[in-house]
Amino acid sequence: MKNTKLAYGTPAKVLHWLLALLLIGQSVVGLYFADMPRGDDKTELLRLHASFGLLILAFMLIRLGVRASGERVEPVEGTPAMLKKVAHGAHLALYALTFIVIGAGIFTLLTVGWNVDFFGMTVIPTWFERDMDLHHLFEEIHVYGWYVLTALVGLHLVGVVYHTLILKDGTLKRMV
Ligand code: HEM
Ligand code: HEM
Repeated sequence: MKNTKLAYGTPAKVLHWLLALLLIGQSVVGLYFADMPRGDDKTELLRLHASFGLLILAFMLIRLGVRASGERVEPVEGTPAMLKKVAHGAHLALYALTFIVIGAGIFTLLTVGWNVDFFGMTVIPTWFERDMDLHHLFEEIHVYGWYVLTALVGLHLVGVVYHTLILKDGTLKRMV
């Protein structure tokens, strides 16, 4: 069940793919409502987006726990030293950026005077008076953070394709 030096345990694999799906869904919904005019439909999608964001946060925290409780999985044998460093850095950055995007999303709502709800139940009541300057700042961090996260996922996929098609090692297999 736990990660070993050579293999990911089942919890790490399930969380990896579940989070990949949730992040894609979350991005599609975000991009969809970003261009909608203000109104009830947009507000409803935004509340859904925030609830799923909190769900992603919970799964990410569990994932960190799973990662910390097992051994650090080492790159498959034969991985060039340079690629090992890039991959490790990219994995850490994927974690960091996901937390930054979620945190900025939460503050985007709090600073406009909204509570953050989880499917109808308030879990983070706001302590801010509406402050549009701070609101726009967090909005920018959320959006630009998401751009960087998306670029990193792109780099991650290039790495996986390189492992699979060029190095022909078992990197992809051991995450499945
Ligand atoms: C990792 C999880 C998340 C991802 C991938 C994500 C992604 C996105 C994307 C792609 C947009 C559209 C940006 C644009 O082009 O304007 C967006 C907007 C937004 N998100 Fe998130 N989001 C996440 C989590 C959250 C959370 C946890 C909250 C709040 C609790 C949140 C609140 C918002 C708000 C308020 C907007 C609207 C900003 C605007 O209209 O410009 N997001 N999000
Ligand atoms: C959808 C296509 C994806 C594929 C094919 C894929 C594939 C993989 C593979 C094969 C590994 C194992 C690397 C190794 O053993 O060194 C891995 C690890 C990892 N992937 Fe992905 N991945 C995808 C999407 C994502 C997304 C969207 C994220 C966003 C956060 C992500 C984050 C990570 C992280 C952080 C690791 C390091 C291991 C861990 O801590 O769980 N992946 N991925």
